[in-house]
Amino acid sequence: MTADALVVFGITGDLARKMTFRALYGLEAAGLLHCPIIGVALDDWSQDHLVAAMRAALDAGGESVEAAAFERLARRLSYLRGDFTDPATYRALAGRLEGSERPLFYLEIPPSLFAPVVDALAAANLTARATVMLEKPFGHDLASARALNARLHRVLTEDRILRIDHFLGKQPVLDIQFLRFANALLEPVWNRDHVAAVQITMAEDFGVEDRGAFYDPVGALRDVVQNHLLQVLALMAMEAPVGPGADALWDRRADVFRAVADVDPAHCLRGQYEGYLDVAGVRPGSETETYVELGLEVDNWRWSGVPFFIRAGKALAVRATEVRVVFKRPPRLAFLEQPEHPAPNELVLRIDPDPGLRLGMLSKQASGHSARPVHLGLSFAAELGKPPEPYERLLNDALTGDRSLFTRQDVVEETWRVVQPLVEHPPAPVSYRRGSWGPTPGLGRTTWQPPWLSSPHDRSAEQGDP
Ligand code: BG6
Repeated sequence: MTADALVVFGITGDLARKMTFRALYGLEAAGLLHCPIIGVALDDWSQDHLVAAMRAALDAGGESVEAAAFERLARRLSYLRGDFTDPATYRALAGRLEGSERPLFYLEIPPSLFAPVVDALAAANLTARATVMLEKPFGHDLASARALNARLHRVLTEDRILRIDHFLGKQPVLDIQFLRFANALLEPVWNRDHVAAVQITMAEDFGVEDRGAFYDPVGALRDVVQNHLLQVLALMAMEAPVGPGADALWDRRADVFRAVADVDPAHCLRGQYEGYLDVAGVRPGSETETYVELGLEVDNWRWSGVPFFIRAGKALAVRATEVRVVFKRPPRLAFLEQPEHPAPNELVLRIDPDPGLRLGMLSKQASGHSARPVHLGLSFAAELGKPPEPYERLLNDALTGDRSLFTRQDVVEETWRVVQPLVEHPPAPVSYRRGSWGPTPGLGRTTWQPPWLSSPHDRSAEQGDP
């Protein structure tokens, strides 16, 4: 069902400046926008101010803006100044939406306002055929996620709620499904008989910067693990969906989480980078983690006994997000005079930056007799062209009524259930140096490989070689 109006609550905020305007412009330039857009916020902005802010955001993002497309987008856009807690705002909005049958309400607002805004929309008779899209976080623990869902369900059915997780709109993340189920080569080895471990790394080489007030009550576990990285884990571990449509896909992801036991805090590591406490907005003496490392097991026929390790942190040595499948080691090469035990093959899916795929193999050295690592590499952008930005893709899906990339209620609750013990009983954070790889010694439950950093076609041995 295609939306016939888009209403963005919080259009004067950070997310609009950094992401939403670019996504809207991308859709307009591609000829995919067909409805009016109404921005709602408390700031005393005019229509012209909003258009100027959009232009400034596009320029600051380095976007090459085509005048005609920008003009079209500016004409779609209007601004409604209003307090989100005042019924008059919703009466005014209802006036603006007259004639609209299927509005899409996009809430880019603090999570504490999700339920009040949805209630106010319902009270103004605006939810009958509407869809509501929410930005993360969806709750801050299992109980609050359940409470939020219950509250939303009082006025909206699940198929009218879209929970955005921008990782699900990233091309390499979408590609996991194709990689796994469109290549007969991989499926036979994608299980506990052949895989020794899966390592998921999300390293960022910048700190919390100006987001202290947002980040401090949240921390790395809630910010990126409970949502982004557990979704990646589910895609790596799930069975093939049995049919088209959002539910077929989400059923398989839900199966993965149902097979994952609650995390054991005794086997988790939390870290905080030196200097974090000086960030504006961070509470004095805060114990919020800026680094977290944990291991999970998917206890089913495919994966039982295979550890899935996750680490995520800010102010680390590099920026790199990847999934590394470490296969079992082959036996010794008994045909050599001095038999050696080869390193395992590794398949690396790089999500950021420069998405790509690399298979680490071993081959005979040009001279001499031992084995040396070589790589088969693929850059998605070089082979397939530049994909749409995640927000552009997700906004288009929301406008056209495709729910496949929006997280389902039961999955959100399962992911909170998995991390809940760590939320309740967090081990004290260990301090680490900015630019390092997190606290030392680490947990030592896996030998983390340095991320793959070179270009996919770079043959030189460097970090990330198996
Ligand atoms: C966001 C987190 O959801 O994802 C940020 O709030 C994080 O802390 C960001 O930096 C990472 O997203 P990306 O797409 O830049 O890797």
